[in-house]
Amino acid sequence: MDRLIERLKHAENVTFLTGSGISRESGIPTFRGEDGLWKNYSPEELASPEGFMRDPQLVWDWYNWRRDIIRKAEPNKAHLTIKEFEKNFNVYVITQNVDGLHEKTGVKNLVELHGNIFRNRCSRCSKMYGDIQSKKIPTCECGGLIRPDVVWFGEPLKEKDISLALEWSRNADVFFLVGTSGIVYPAASLPFFAKENGGFVVEINIEETPLTPHIDLHLEGSASQVLDTILKGLNK
Ligand code: OAD
Repeated sequence: MDRLIERLKHAENVTFLTGSGISRESGIPTFRGEDGLWKNYSPEELASPEGFMRDPQLVWDWYNWRRDIIRKAEPNKAHLTIKEFEKNFNVYVITQNVDGLHEKTGVKNLVELHGNIFRNRCSRCSKMYGDIQSKKIPTCECGGLIRPDVVWFGEPLKEKDISLALEWSRNADVFFLVGTSGIVYPAASLPFFAKENGGFVVEINIEETPLTPHIDLHLEGSASQVLDTILKGLNK
């Protein structure tokens, strides 16, 4: 921890890559692990273009279920502490989460790499739509089915998102990985770009991940507790 506080005292740019673990304390399930979503649901059926073509209503139902959980959720202490960091640093947030909780804190620099569950788009003509609260899968004026504007397995990330994420990773004096299992690429490659450019890479997680051997410091604990401890150490 002392090493990190020392690095932060000389840092200007601090970048966060966050995953579903950061939103767990807001009551939103993670994907992997004992009570993770992928334990009971199949990613191929529910989060892939093929699954959507096979049974669009099933996919829409699943997203409605998740939207209902997320609609009730508020940013937790971890999201809010990241916002607090803006008092001391240029803060950049790259999230894999589609829950919009970072946006709710008003953080200035944000990329939602995997999209946002409250945005939709036509699967045929790509027309964008906002939140749609409908039990039946809606259709676009062109007749195409409307789908959530999120990135599914096998789909590329948006060009401008990945390019900002790369820039913010390369510029980072300190790069935090928070609540991500670090196994979904290209997001999981970002800490390597930070490290290559001299950034100090810190992982905050309740357990070790496949990225742990490659980073500078692993801090074990919940995102909110650990981030709060860091902020207190910084302001001491
Ligand atoms: P995962 O479910 O794979 O990983 C969640 C991580 O959060 C795990 O490493 C947990 O140990 C950790 N964790 C859980 N609770 C925590 C807490 N309170 N504080 C800190 N850490 C905690 O979720 P992601 O890494 O976000 O992609 O998954 C990456 C991508 O895979 C998702 O964006 C999604 C998914 O399939 C797509 O759908 C394209």
